Amino acid sequence: MNIRIAPSILAADLACLGEEISRAAEGGCDTFHLDIMDWHFVPNLSYGPHVVAAVRRLTDLPLDVHLMVDNPLDMIEAFADAGSDYITVHVEAPCPMEEAFEAITAKGVRPGITMKPDRPVGDVIPYLGDVDLCLVMSVFPGFGGQAFIEESYGRIRAVADAASGVNPDLIISVDGGVGIGNAARLIASGANYLVAGTAVFRNHGARENVRLLRGAAEGA
Ligand code: DX5
Ligand code: ZN
Repeated sequence: MNIRIAPSILAADLACLGEEISRAAEGGCDTFHLDIMDWHFVPNLSYGPHVVAAVRRLTDLPLDVHLMVDNPLDMIEAFADAGSDYITVHVEAPCPMEEAFEAITAKGVRPGITMKPDRPVGDVIPYLGDVDLCLVMSVFPGFGGQAFIEESYGRIRAVADAASGVNPDLIISVDGGVGIGNAARLIASGANYLVAGTAVFRNHGARENVRLLRGAAEGA
């Protein structure tokens, strides 16, 4: 199985972002995950298109942008122009999902959908045929370094089971508290794409940590 590893830039040392990205790429990561937070949809503020564009200049790997914002429709164009390859919107956002997917695909970017951990997983199932990626949040969005929510295994399984009929190529991603201790079980539950911030970037160890995470995931 093709397991993708996506380091989350939120946990990188921004004072040496170029080196952090190089180390993760040398470790063999597949994409980079960028968390966009607006201090409204989640109680934290991260970065905007300018930083995404900087990461774009630092790597040729795909950029997976996770919009945790109140008004994704207003921002899709700017993040697409900054170099996103995937843009994921929350089902909780107050806009029709179809409109968001259209705006994303109109820019030549692949759409994704996600939901907070307390949202019924059934709320994203109707959209699985319309997206390239479904992200299962395994912490409440807003901060890195939180503990993995154990119920997430069953939610991943529910998405994987539903996707097998309508979209067998769907990227099933998991984000929050992912590390070597749960990677194998996440893959066994149906995930094929692991987002990890702290587990990858801690102690400037991204090169080795990406390898360890892949090894753990492939042990599934
Ligand atoms: C949380 C973000 C995650 C975060 C994960 O809102 O969506 O991408 O960076 O961080 P870790 O891997 O440290 O839980
Ligand atoms: Zn994220």
